[in-house]
Amino acid sequence: MTGWRLCQKAPPLADGGILRSAFGAYHAGVVLPIADDRNAAEAAYWNGAGGARWVAHQRSQDALLAPVLQLLIERSGVGAGEVVLDIGCGAGTTSIALAKRVAPAGRVLAVDISAPLLERARQQQPAGLELEFALGDATVYPFPPGQADLLFSRFGVMFFADPTRSFTNMRTGLAAGARLVFACWREPRENPWLMLPLEAAYRHVPRLPATPPEAPGPFAFASAERVRRILEGAGFSRVRLEPCELSLDLAEGDGLDRAVEMSLGIGPTSRALDGQPPALRVAVAESMRAALAPYQQGERVPLPGAIWVVTALSP
Ligand SMILES: C[S@@+](CC[C@H](N)C(=O)[O-])C[C@H]1O[C@@H](n2cnc3c(N)ncnc32)[C@H](O)[C@@H]1O
Repeated sequence: MTGWRLCQKAPPLADGGILRSAFGAYHAGVVLPIADDRNAAEAAYWNGAGGARWVAHQRSQDALLAPVLQLLIERSGVGAGEVVLDIGCGAGTTSIALAKRVAPAGRVLAVDISAPLLERARQQQPAGLELEFALGDATVYPFPPGQADLLFSRFGVMFFADPTRSFTNMRTGLAAGARLVFACWREPRENPWLMLPLEAAYRHVPRLPATPPEAPGPFAFASAERVRRILEGAGFSRVRLEPCELSLDLAEGDGLDRAVEMSLGIGPTSRALDGQPPALRVAVAESMRAALAPYQQGERVPLPGAIWVVTALSP
């Protein structure tokens, strides 16, 4: 893993801003070595409230999103001996699965902008895997040039202010002929598992500020045309977007109350509830319960979700 370690010691790029102040404010003691200043708001979010929530709900979210990991691993064809970059790796569940696939001769470099999520990732990491977690902004991270066979991400690439720049930078880490595979969400209306609880919350709390559809966030890559434009602009070829439908059990097989608890704690709903008093959360929970009840099937509460599985090649 010497190559990875060397790259972590690389000096900040000339045009990469340093987010010391943002991190000082949002996550005491964390300094991001290099970052694109335009990603400062996302960096602050993932090192603040957003990161804390993902850590708190990590096990549930991993269970919910396990089918996506399975799908991506199948589509990627990842195998023994390969070198993989896992972008926006979060708490590292995908990175660990990939490292097991490429063992014993392969290795994984997993990069994320969130210190608290990487802390959880390192806690989860089993001994003996060739897997390194690195704190950094994928937009400017100095990837060891030309080494990786696969660029992989489960929902970790929709948060860049300038995605073409980010993917151009990530591509520097890829060997000729390397594959890209990632998952991103399609339109909000195609994802009731997130939007139905959010609409229930909006009966009690103000709507989140409207953002342009291409602004960084979970739905930034909903437009297939945009994703294609970004990846081709970054030098990828044979870009393909496969629409995949999901059935996501918000209850994890544990009944309606569990589905409500999960919905309160994740995604845009949790953002909308930030700072709201406990009494209001109780009212929101009641509305959510009523909205989710029609979907209950025994102890499961499955709702539809829709993603793109995006694949491409780095020529
Ligand atoms: C929706 S979470 C997905 C986490 C993980 N891939 C999973 O499936 O559990 C998005 C992740 O992207 C990371 N992220 C956001 N902007 C980033 C950036 N510029 N560089 C690297 N990681 C970033 C966040 O910190 C967060 O961990």
